Amino acid sequence: MENNRKVTLTYNDGKDNLEMPVLKGTLGPDVVDIRAFSKTGMFTFDPGFLATASCESQITFIDGDLGQLYYRGYPIEQLAAKSDYLEVCYLLLNGELPTAEERKVFERGIMRHNMLHDQLMSLFKGFRRDAHPMAVMVGVVGALSAFYHDSLDINNPEHRKISAHRLIAKLPNIAAQAYRYNKGLPFSYPKNGLTYAENFLHMMFSTPCEEYKVNKTLALALDRIFTLHADHEQNASTSTVRLAGSSGANPFACIAAGIACLWGPSHGGANEAVLKMLDEIGSVENVPAFMEGVKNKTHKLMGFGHRVYKNMDPRAAIMKETCDEVLNELGLHNDPKFKLAMALEKIALEDPYFIERKLYPNVDFYSGIVLSAIGIPVSMFTPIFALARTVGWISHWAEMIADPAMKIGRPRQLYTGAQRRDYIPQEQR
Ligand code: ACO
Repeated sequence: MENNRKVTLTYNDGKDNLEMPVLKGTLGPDVVDIRAFSKTGMFTFDPGFLATASCESQITFIDGDLGQLYYRGYPIEQLAAKSDYLEVCYLLLNGELPTAEERKVFERGIMRHNMLHDQLMSLFKGFRRDAHPMAVMVGVVGALSAFYHDSLDINNPEHRKISAHRLIAKLPNIAAQAYRYNKGLPFSYPKNGLTYAENFLHMMFSTPCEEYKVNKTLALALDRIFTLHADHEQNASTSTVRLAGSSGANPFACIAAGIACLWGPSHGGANEAVLKMLDEIGSVENVPAFMEGVKNKTHKLMGFGHRVYKNMDPRAAIMKETCDEVLNELGLHNDPKFKLAMALEKIALEDPYFIERKLYPNVDFYSGIVLSAIGIPVSMFTPIFALARTVGWISHWAEMIADPAMKIGRPRQLYTGAQRRDYIPQEQR
């Protein structure tokens, strides 16, 4: 939305001023519309997009200073307490909470798509057994495009919907089979009497030898992890999905690109880093020496701090409660690893170094502990983040494709390489 504020750009070489409109969102800071700037023959320079909005979006809002996160206007605290992951998926995709009937139809649609094509199983078998499950996820999700030629017309809203449902439905299955292949376990199948999170636990941990009973507390904790990771506006992987999609690439290829981006340690790998750090510290007696190292900047306290949240990450507060519930349920409060985690949390929350820098535990600090307590190996933490974030990615992709003003993404650059020069034959170099 445009309002009547304008920003005027003045030059110190006598060129005409340039007036640029200021746009107002429904929440958040105003945004200067610099599109007219390209007519000047110059570009703006903003590596890392620290001052640039790449798109208009109606899906998720974050205020890092106030510690607010809203999906489609609903605060994450309310969704985590009262909703569940599949309802949140519907909300993110469609913009509104479903009625009972809409929920039923949506859930049935997701369940109908949760099996994997039998031929896809051969693809898993092409990987080394010790491949990282994220490598398998990137490959298998990208390969889905080879299986669904019937619904790859991105300009057809019905095709977009089916692809979104297929992705939400199949990602837990793909993640679980990546784990099982690595462990040498036979592939498993979904069971439709179970909830989305229960089904994931079932596909991960069931064996053909005995009945697997899903623990409800653990399934609820997992559902909450999915809900908290479902979307986070224009982060690196979501922007990757949008950029890939802006060329008209099919949704499976775009989500594979998002998974590849999420794999990086600065993005999806943080909860894995928390567990590695706990292993390195070893026991509570080593905490003071570790903290000295943090203050000397020898290493960071993983799971603390956030680029956007300079107040408590609202997801962390919710995850902390879930963490307590899970440790209680499993009787793990006295387990040395989890005692160590709680000791670190307490010291960091009281230490002036962290207080002055507004460094709070982030969602990954607690989600790493919860996943580890549930028995999920560290290498599966990022695949779980990927399966939860798929709905966010596909919602952004669908929002972009449905926008008639969509353009292929094509950032410009400030070139600082060699000037024009002539080729030198090899014998003269
Ligand atoms: N441990 C110790 N000190 C820290 C930490 C930390 N985890 N995070 C930041 N600081 C310090 C910095 O050294 C700096 O200190 P200084 O002012 O004395 O120089 C100050 O706090 C400000 O830090 P920045 O690096 O400017 O903060 P930035 O916003 O750039 O970084 C980041 C955010 C990357 C998340 C950082 O806090 C970090 O590396 N945390 C650990 C990794 C982690 O948990 N990442 C997960 C993020 S959540 C997510 O992705 C879902």
